[in-house]
Amino acid sequence: MSTKPWWQTGVVYQIYPRSFADSDGDGTGDLRGVISRLDYLNDGTPRSLGVDAIWLSPFFPSPGFDFGYDVSDYCGIDPLFGTMKDFDTLVAEAHRRGIRIILDLVLNHTSHLHPWFAESRSAQENPKRDWYIWQDPGRFGAAPNNWQSVFGGKAWKWDARTRQYYFHMFLEQQPDLNWRNPNARKAVMDVFRFWLDRGVDGFRLDVVNAYFKDSMLRNNPPALGIRGYERQRHIYDKDQPELLGAYREIRGVLDSYGERMAVGEIMGGMAEAARYSSDGLLPLAFNFEFTGQRWSPQAFLKSIMAFEQALAGKGWPCYVLSNHDIVRHASRYGGRWLEARAKVAAAMLLTLRGTPFLYHGEEIGMREGKIARADIQDPPGKRYWPFYMGRDGCRTPIPWNAFPGAGFTTGDPWLPLNPDFRKVNVAAQRDDPDSVLSFYRKLIWLRKKMPVLQAGDFIPIPVKSGRALVYLRETKSQVALVALNFFESALDLAFREPLPAGSWRLRLSTHPVEGAQPPLGYGIRLRPHEAVIWEKR
Ligand code: NOJ
Repeated sequence: MSTKPWWQTGVVYQIYPRSFADSDGDGTGDLRGVISRLDYLNDGTPRSLGVDAIWLSPFFPSPGFDFGYDVSDYCGIDPLFGTMKDFDTLVAEAHRRGIRIILDLVLNHTSHLHPWFAESRSAQENPKRDWYIWQDPGRFGAAPNNWQSVFGGKAWKWDARTRQYYFHMFLEQQPDLNWRNPNARKAVMDVFRFWLDRGVDGFRLDVVNAYFKDSMLRNNPPALGIRGYERQRHIYDKDQPELLGAYREIRGVLDSYGERMAVGEIMGGMAEAARYSSDGLLPLAFNFEFTGQRWSPQAFLKSIMAFEQALAGKGWPCYVLSNHDIVRHASRYGGRWLEARAKVAAAMLLTLRGTPFLYHGEEIGMREGKIARADIQDPPGKRYWPFYMGRDGCRTPIPWNAFPGAGFTTGDPWLPLNPDFRKVNVAAQRDDPDSVLSFYRKLIWLRKKMPVLQAGDFIPIPVKSGRALVYLRETKSQVALVALNFFESALDLAFREPLPAGSWRLRLSTHPVEGAQPPLGYGIRLRPHEAVIWEKR
């Protein structure tokens, strides 16, 4: 038995509640909708997907300028999504099935309608003024420095009534909290406690490395890029040294409740993800390298090795291919081979050393939705169309079946259903043994049965072809070999070194068992787009 905590061994499934399942016909997904689909996620048998935890994107009260990432009450439920009673039922029903609950805390900024900001904004003398980042104007009324908003335009908003600027890293409706203010910080820590007391198992922390900005508010130096935000090196508006103290404090609160987790969303690269998840700071931090990776086994291997090296055994990796902010990976890698590649990608994600994070819909190979200009909802999509379409395409509703409304809603869905929902949906794949969904299910349940896939070392096997990725997972008592053919032709792969001696037992293949070729000392034969897992006897 592995002694690792659940958040290292388990599989996490992200739900964007707006788009998952709508129980009341208003076109928007809700908590009761999630409850109604828990058996699909894990009913304790391999008929279900088998995930160990769900991360729910925000469902707190919010005016919705950034679709819930602008929170106006951290300790409530937006009526759009249900009630606190629904939430308690969700926790109880999920726990009954062995599914943990991870909430999405957006603590870098609040909504401009949060009562804290209303007070802060009311007067320069207000006791909560310093809970946010207020500054006098620069010369001739200019903004205090050159910082840019991630969503476009300047990151400073002039408040004519109290004659100061406030800072907002995202929309002007998302003012940034001042984490240096002890009272604000205490209030934020109370938010963690509030949800931990209600039985929550962990948190995804939105833009966790932006909590502190340079205390002298120095200008960021320039960089090459297209959008204003990209034309700066962000050395002063994030990644400040004070973060480490805040992470320790958060970790302290979590640990006082037992085995609770947090995963940080990191703005930036793998080096920061490794740094912040090392030495017991944040339990996990997202490394988004995979989300920008081309379909190349060498590119994936390079980034896996770089992450392992950056973590240097001091932190635990986690991997992600899709989420609610980026184009779905089935479409990124897809084209003609979409389903075959979706399976190969799944086999990789679920057999690497590290916690896999799935994004709802990827288990059916869901494609990026097509959004007409008039239907665009996402603020950066509205602002930058046609150069950037925004994030609506990866947020379209989950198609559960081929009926009108796709089993998602009986009403008008808040974003259009994918045009192919009659073909690509859960019901169509559920009983098809060759579907993407069936393959995800088999992989996840195999992971549970093979501790080596959860905890084993990751040992790449150098191959002479650039068309495949091969590695061992190894513990003292178990060895697995994973071989992934990324392309459409069969491969005779030669290894540079021999495999450990022994005979091999096939545990899973994307293809019929009959044609599978066991690895031989120096090589393996793979069918087109085949992903296989062998176990050494
Ligand atoms: C990252 C979230 O994933 C994204 O959806 C949101 O818009 C920004 N943070 C701002 O909260």
